[in-house]
Amino acid sequence: MTELVQRFYDVLEQAKTALAAVDGEAALEECRVRFLSRKGLLPSLMSELGKVPAEEKPTVGKVLNQVKQELQKAFDDCAEKVRGEETAANALDVTRPGRARDIGHRHPISQVMDMAVAIFRRMGFLVADGPDLEDVWHNFDALNAPQDHPSRTPEDTFYFDLDKRSWLDPETMILRTQTSPVQVRTMKAQSLPVRIICPGRCYRRDTPDATHGMSFHQIEGLYADRHVSLADLKGTLAIFAREMFGSQTKVRFRPHFFPFTEPSVEADASCFICGGKGCRVCKGSGWIEIAGAGMVNPAVFRNVGYDPEETTGFAFGMGVERIAMIRYAINDLRLLYDNDVRFLRQF
Ligand code: DAH
Repeated sequence: MTELVQRFYDVLEQAKTALAAVDGEAALEECRVRFLSRKGLLPSLMSELGKVPAEEKPTVGKVLNQVKQELQKAFDDCAEKVRGEETAANALDVTRPGRARDIGHRHPISQVMDMAVAIFRRMGFLVADGPDLEDVWHNFDALNAPQDHPSRTPEDTFYFDLDKRSWLDPETMILRTQTSPVQVRTMKAQSLPVRIICPGRCYRRDTPDATHGMSFHQIEGLYADRHVSLADLKGTLAIFAREMFGSQTKVRFRPHFFPFTEPSVEADASCFICGGKGCRVCKGSGWIEIAGAGMVNPAVFRNVGYDPEETTGFAFGMGVERIAMIRYAINDLRLLYDNDVRFLRQF
């Protein structure tokens, strides 16, 4: 009996030595076959238990079971170690092809808006905010829009509750058609000097086409103080244009009309593609319109409670989609809103 027990311990020792040398899944399997499988060393010794005299069987059996359990545990530990190492080795296999992950990024509209905001902030403008859901007074009346201005009609502007209210009632709510009402809100809330920009979304009842959408973005600018001049406006827009489109860019003004500015202008930047010679982007003119602007109409200062005799200021408003389309040579506005990642990925 002691002889059999001794042989069990020998097998256990052999197995432990073999397991200690295991360096991978294949060697592990070899050990399993050699010691634990049905025809392996351990089970074949087990079968010899039958020859042990009956009175010794319980004690010997107990020892043999302990040995078997110990061997099984040594094997399991070894297997766990081997598999863990193989997983770790795979994770670090630098020769395997990498996993391509799609990373999102800012939408081109947001990128242009961020760029513009950064440029104006460097010039000392603060970012102001106002509601998309606006009332008629802030969007039209305070900005000196005459009651018969075509942009005020329900064909052009999204009104709320027209069954209960007139679209000429100053308190009727609308989706703002421009970011200009933020000028009004800011001036009503603070005293001079005011130097703000407001990037934001606007809404108009336009039929969507290559250059119009029902919703778009503007950046509004306002500088109100004493002794602000048209030259300050031009200098400000010139710096903006140079930073946005390149250091060679020039700015010109063309006379225009807006109810909230007097005089009013449209500002053009020299075409950054052809440098002014004329090309497809500038439609042969050498100039690209970038903003509406002007000197704040004294009527607006009066409406917000500023003294129109003392106060001067300039204001401008630019279309963000327009600037993005020029900058990235995009020929259809709708591409910006289709959310086709194959398109958006390019920016
Ligand atoms: N609000 C004008 C528009 O919707 C743009 C604009 C023009 C804003 C002149 C201004 C400005 O502040 O001075 O087309």
